[in-house]
Amino acid sequence: MPTSSNQMKRIAQRALDIEMSGIRKFFQAAKPDSISMALGQPDFDTPDHIKQAAIRAINEGKTGYTFNAGLPELREAISKKFKSENGIRFHPDQVIVTAGAGEALFIAIQALVNPGDRVLITDPGFVSYEACSTLAGGVMDPLALDQNLHIDVDAAIEKMNGARLLILNSPCNPTGTVESEETIRALVEAANDAGVTVLSDEVYEHFIYDAKHTSAAKFGDDVLTVNATSKTYAMTGWRIGYIAGHPDYIQQCLKIHQYCQTCATSISQYAAYAAYTGDQTCVSLMRDEYKARRDMLWSGLHDLGFDFPIPGGAFYAFVPMDNDTTQKILDAGVIIVPGDAFGKNGSGYARFSYATSRANISAALERISTVVR
Ligand SMILES: Cc1ncc(COP(=O)(O)O)c(C=O)c1O
Repeated sequence: MPTSSNQMKRIAQRALDIEMSGIRKFFQAAKPDSISMALGQPDFDTPDHIKQAAIRAINEGKTGYTFNAGLPELREAISKKFKSENGIRFHPDQVIVTAGAGEALFIAIQALVNPGDRVLITDPGFVSYEACSTLAGGVMDPLALDQNLHIDVDAAIEKMNGARLLILNSPCNPTGTVESEETIRALVEAANDAGVTVLSDEVYEHFIYDAKHTSAAKFGDDVLTVNATSKTYAMTGWRIGYIAGHPDYIQQCLKIHQYCQTCATSISQYAAYAAYTGDQTCVSLMRDEYKARRDMLWSGLHDLGFDFPIPGGAFYAFVPMDNDTTQKILDAGVIIVPGDAFGKNGSGYARFSYATSRANISAALERISTVVR
């Protein structure tokens, strides 16, 4: 295909302004005997009681559109979850069920960011934040991390005046960092005092190994919270997420959601209802397994000479290493993602996902030992 076709010349600038995610190409690099530590999705199967709820929904013909904002009983269940797990009161009307956290982020940024607005995003950070901000005409203003991959709070606060949005993500993809309650409180209070809305992406809230999760919305009312069933219940392909916050924000987000999605998949919404109202043991079993894998990966890499603080959450380790070492590990058939796929300041690191079996982690460490010793 010609590189500059007539069609290419007709593409809107906003599409040209963003790039394909740098993560995908590393999956494509995988050979049949490669061990993938690149994936940002649980390797567990969706728990059976959740699958059965979807099957029931199909058999009972619950396959039509739902309300735009989602099934009332699911929004009610999410509202109860906010109260019991996060200590926040959101009326069910303050919740929109979306096609994954990805859509929730997109509609929030579309609703809140005007052309030229500054959006504070950590660098490195999850790739969608900058792309969604750019699509809305906003401009990413990168927030630096300190040596231990935590947000530099003072530097962040200095950037708040005149910014439109601060995006928080604790636990963080790609760093695995869990920010303390003190940090989250300080950032939210400073942001809201400066008129900056906080968009808090909490999709990894249940995968924290040495501390407790803190929801940003506890510390201010100008906070939108995004979450999903994707990671918590190993449901990435089901595409269920949600956004919650001030009714005025939610009403505007709903318009955008309505015109791009109509509603999240009905069958998946019934499954999500079973997830939120059912037994939560499946979540703690997955958390325990991730913790064991994290410990195994961290101590294995440490023994091989990689010196970095133990990551507190999500299922990622962001490991300092030069490009040469990253390439050697890739050549040895262990697929990891170079840190600069997550932002300029990610260079000099590589992201390892431990959403893969202990056997794979052990085999990967073995391969790495042959190239780094
Ligand atoms: C931090 C973060 N937010 C949002 C998402 C998107 O989640 P979903 O699959 O629910 O759209 C991901 C997926 O990797 C993520 O890592």
